[in-house]
Amino acid sequence: MTKLRFNNQVALVFGGGRGIGKAIATRLSKEGAKLIVIDILKNEIQKLKKQISELGGEIEVFNIDISDENKVNECIQLVFSKFKKIDILINTVGIVGPSNCPIEDYQLQDFINVINVNLVGAFIISKAVIPIMREKNYGRILHIASIAGKEGNPGMVGYSSSKAALIGMVKGLGKELAQTNITVNGVAPGLISSEMNSDTDPKMLEYMVNKIPMKRSGTVEEVAALSLWIVSGEASFNTGTIFDISGGRATY
Ligand SMILES: NC(=O)c1ccc[n+]([C@@H]2O[C@H](COP(=O)([O-])OP(=O)(O)OC[C@H]3O[C@@H](n4cnc5c(N)ncnc54)[C@H](O)[C@@H]3O)[C@@H](O)[C@H]2O)c1
Repeated sequence: MTKLRFNNQVALVFGGGRGIGKAIATRLSKEGAKLIVIDILKNEIQKLKKQISELGGEIEVFNIDISDENKVNECIQLVFSKFKKIDILINTVGIVGPSNCPIEDYQLQDFINVINVNLVGAFIISKAVIPIMREKNYGRILHIASIAGKEGNPGMVGYSSSKAALIGMVKGLGKELAQTNITVNGVAPGLISSEMNSDTDPKMLEYMVNKIPMKRSGTVEEVAALSLWIVSGEASFNTGTIFDISGGRATY
């Protein structure tokens, strides 16, 4: 029998309750990983647990907000005491916040909320997991950023700022850990069809599709395929890299 790519690897997926995170978690499980999925969507993670368990996969779920440092640390300590290692950390958590909203109308509290979830959360989970990965001198960390962080989307000042800062975090941490076997990378998707877009202003969606040379949005499965390679053992000479997946929109 061929060995599965992630056999016996312990993978944490923050934001795996739906969308891109769920697609990544499902595929990781099919390829042998022991999964821990963390999300604020209680029902969705219970549903995912049932689906994956029925397929014979190993999964635990935690209903936790990524920006709650105490709860995140508690969860990671529980995972560590059970599995004694964490091989993979994937962060697909993200909120859009206001869209098609000029800065004059953008409320400070909305800006703070977006930064807390999209950026502070990424800091909290990276800080909690890296010491555990250092123990084994192995790890794969992947944060899902956005083309909005590279190019800036108008009318989304919180989202664009948070994703640009997340890209900076990936680049800095990648270099900080470059002499270990822990890699830190990011993916910058263009428009991907998921529940996340359901609240986005249709004018903003049209603007985004028009900017994509392939003239379509991507799928969560396409993002999962790229992400799995990035967190595999094979991806050993990439760190601090932001991988585009944008239907040709990103050109630098
Ligand atoms: N869909 C797109 O077009 C697109 C484009 C570029 C980047 N992205 C990024 O990809 C990632 C995944 O997006 P998606 O399209 O799957 O969106 P999604 O909304 O379907 O998934 C995000 C997940 O994060 C969870 N989440 C939100 N706030 C949380 C919190 N405080 N704590 C824990 N979990 C929380 C949600 O419950 C959800 O399951 C996000 O970071 C998003 O910014 C998406």
